[in-house]
Parts: sequence; structure tokens; C-alpha cells
Amino acid sequence: MLNRIYRIMVGIALAIALLSFSPVPALAQTDPAELAKAVQEIEALDSLRSGLASTLEGRTEEPTLQTMQEVCKPVGMRAMQLSQENHWQVKQIANKYRNPAHALDNLHSKIALARFEQNPDLMGFWDRETVDGQAGTRYYRRINVEASCLACHGSKNSRPQFVKDNYPQDLAYDFHVGDLRGMYAVFIPDLQAALEQTSGE
Ligand code: HEC
Repeated sequence: MLNRIYRIMVGIALAIALLSFSPVPALAQTDPAELAKAVQEIEALDSLRSGLASTLEGRTEEPTLQTMQEVCKPVGMRAMQLSQENHWQVKQIANKYRNPAHALDNLHSKIALARFEQNPDLMGFWDRETVDGQAGTRYYRRINVEASCLACHGSKNSRPQFVKDNYPQDLAYDFHVGDLRGMYAVFIPDLQAALEQTSGE
């Protein structure tokens, strides 16, 4: 519970820090409240995964399809739900990915991942981007490897059988605690703001 509160507070602090110190000037199209909401939702999403993964710790039996569905699958499902609810595009992105849908998707995301790689203290930042022909703001947040992740993202041979079977192209192994696992990317299109501006004129 305390951990949860702590994470929410870190999320809010991060949002405030990003809003006040980002090198990107406050653009008319970027609604700070929406950006802050994205930051908080991603903190919640990340705690969801950590919480679920930690329930596997101390279990002696190998994770099964069932237990897998209790860790990274609900994270993917929640990301989809957030996209739909907010008209955002919420993704997980990695260069060593397990699900090919999570590959790097543009030059900006490549640069973002390289920034996280080079700067281990960088938790998140945002960028102006055009995605599918639509201008908007993309918020990036790092994902680090914790001990509880190694049950499925540790050495190649120690991966659970269901991972070997279901993900023949898997690249998401051989991680160590503290490694950069990947990042979350939330694209917030300007469309909404643009529509509001037009209707206000
Ligand atoms: C029980 C096994 C299991 C555990 C434990 C686990 N993962 Fe995963 N992880 C998976 C599977 C399976 C996928 C692919 C899910 C899919 O098809 O979208 C995945 C996907 C991911 C992705 C999306 C990018 C990609 O490679 O497709 C990230 C990021 C990720 N995991 C991070 C973590 C982190 C961080 C932890 C620890 C807090 C963790 N995982 C713990 C099984 C696991």
C-alpha cells in the first residue's frame, strides 16, 4: 500500500518536474492536464506489472500460461484500454522484444530508447511527433528490469517452456536487474485541442 502511494507520489512529482523543466516549450497544442494524466496512468500501469510479477517471487513451480497471463498480458490489455478510453496510442516499445508488435516504430522512438540507454537517471520526457499523419505529443517512460522479471526475461535457457513455444522469435531474455527493458510510449494527438480551438473561434 505504502509502495503504491509512493509510486503515485513519484508519478505526480515526475509530472510536475516534466511540466516545469522540459526543454520542449509549452506548446499551445499540448494540454498539460492531459500530459499529467498520461504520466499518472503510466505510473499505475508500471506498478501493475511490478505488483503482478512480485506475486511470482517465491513460487517454486515454473510459470505456466496461466501465470504468464497474470503478468505482462494484463499490462498489454490495460495499455489497449487506456488507448481507447483517452484517444491516445499507448504502447510498450523495446529493441529486444518478445512480441513483435513492440518493436521500435519510428526514428523518434529509436532516439528515445538511446537516450534512456545513455542516461540511466532519465525516467521520462516528451517529444513532438507526427504519428499516422497526425501531429501530437509523445510521452516516453523507461522500464527497468527488476529481480521478479527474470523468471521470464532471464537467461535464454531458463525461460519458461510456454515462452519458448509461443514466442519463437523472442529477443526479450538475458536481462539483468537494473537493465533498461524498454519504454512506454503514449501518443496524445493534437486533434482534440485543434477541434476545441476551431469551435472557439
Ligand atoms: C511470467 C512471465 C513474465 C514475467 C515474470 C515478466 N514478463 Fe514481461 N513479458 C512476458 C511475456 C510472455 C511477454 C509478451 C507479452 C505479449 O505477447 O504482449 C512480455 C512482454 C514484456 C514487455 C513488452 C515488450 C516485449 O518484449 O514484447 C515488457 C516491457 C516486459 N515484458 C517487461 C517486464 C518487466 C519489467 C517485468 C518484471 C517487472 C516482466 N516483464 C516480467 C512474460 C513475463
